[in-house]
Amino acid sequence: MHSLSTHFDAWIRTEFVEINNELEAIYWQQQDKANVMGVGDNLKQELTGQGNAHIKQLLVEGNTDEGFENAFDLLGNVGLFMAACRRHEITEPSRETVSPLQEASALAMHIGASIGVTPRFATAHLTTHNRAVNGVYKRFTDLHAEKLFIDYNTRGILAYKRAAESLFKIHALGISHPITLTLLEEAKRALLDVIASNQVLYRELDTDAFFYQVRPYYKPYRVGKEIYRGANAGDFAGINVIDMMLGLCQANDVNYAQMLVDKFLYMMPEDQATLRECMRLPNLMDALLEAAKHHRNASWFEETTSMFIQVCKLHGDTAIQHHNQLVTKYIAHPSQKMAEQHLDKVTASGPPLPVLLRQLEVLRDKRAAAKRDDIFTRHCDLQFLRQCLSGNK
Ligand code: HEM
Repeated sequence: MHSLSTHFDAWIRTEFVEINNELEAIYWQQQDKANVMGVGDNLKQELTGQGNAHIKQLLVEGNTDEGFENAFDLLGNVGLFMAACRRHEITEPSRETVSPLQEASALAMHIGASIGVTPRFATAHLTTHNRAVNGVYKRFTDLHAEKLFIDYNTRGILAYKRAAESLFKIHALGISHPITLTLLEEAKRALLDVIASNQVLYRELDTDAFFYQVRPYYKPYRVGKEIYRGANAGDFAGINVIDMMLGLCQANDVNYAQMLVDKFLYMMPEDQATLRECMRLPNLMDALLEAAKHHRNASWFEETTSMFIQVCKLHGDTAIQHHNQLVTKYIAHPSQKMAEQHLDKVTASGPPLPVLLRQLEVLRDKRAAAKRDDIFTRHCDLQFLRQCLSGNK
């Protein structure tokens, strides 16, 4: 990495974290922990002054073409700075029409547009593409809750990616190939890892610490004149590859397609390519339903269908766990307690909380193939496949 960006990176890993720590400690002592207005103004000035000084020099330097990895990393650092300014309400998108952080916006847009990603920090910057230096990876603060959250987001994402990779490989082999069963077993193990990892997060993450000290760094913020939604752990292709390869969700479903379209630029370019390819592929559910017409008594059909049903069940279980446990405990419940004046700022994506919760419920029920009359799910198709198994005939 070039020296100016190295210095900026060093600042992000040290003074930046210290200032955020100090501000968090002040907010936390207040009766209304969500209030940040008029609190710690000297520290906020230090943060803005120091960050802008680094960014000004980087902007003057211009594009030094040091490859994708360095550009993506620098974008992440600019994004962490802008997200922290948003968290401390140094900037506030509803108060402004253009981000007051002009140099940071220019640098973020320059890099984002040149490498084909959104000009803000994304989940990958903090999880799968966050290099540790001497055991410590980049974070906003030193708080235990933040480390726990990022650790288990990273574990969950990597496990989903393992499941997705296995399912993706089935396309080239076909459902009757003996190794397809092995690939489905691998997907099953990976989804069990997601469940285990989410369980630890659910047990160990402190609700108030997450809600008041971690989540606010994931709010939407402006880059130039545009507001970009917050990062969330779903911004990678794997989760949708699983949805679509299993056939539980469809790329031609208007709501699901909308979500895919909206998330493309929040993913790494390689994930964007994977997702695009996956959107063009047929799914396993349809293939098994077709095979049931001719081969339902074949032993491969029996074994593969049985494992496929288990994988679908586990994918549904991860979605139920995410919604009924993580979202409910860490977002929905604390929001109910929150002072009315802050409520419009709770979610990372922008829509009001009840709207967001309904969208997440639909996703949960599609993944779980729940019985619903108002939306299309694979409930009946899975039931049919279950009946095809010899024990149920
Ligand atoms: C404290 C833990 C967590 C909470 C409170 C939480 C909450 C949320 C919320 C509220 C959203 C909607 C986006 C928004 O805020 O606007 C979301 C999206 C998402 N989260 Fe989480 N999440 C947590 C952890 C995780 C973990 C560990 C994973 C596993 C990788 C995960 C996977 C996803 C996915 C895939 C999405 C995109 C929507 C979807 O496809 O379901 N989340 N999360």
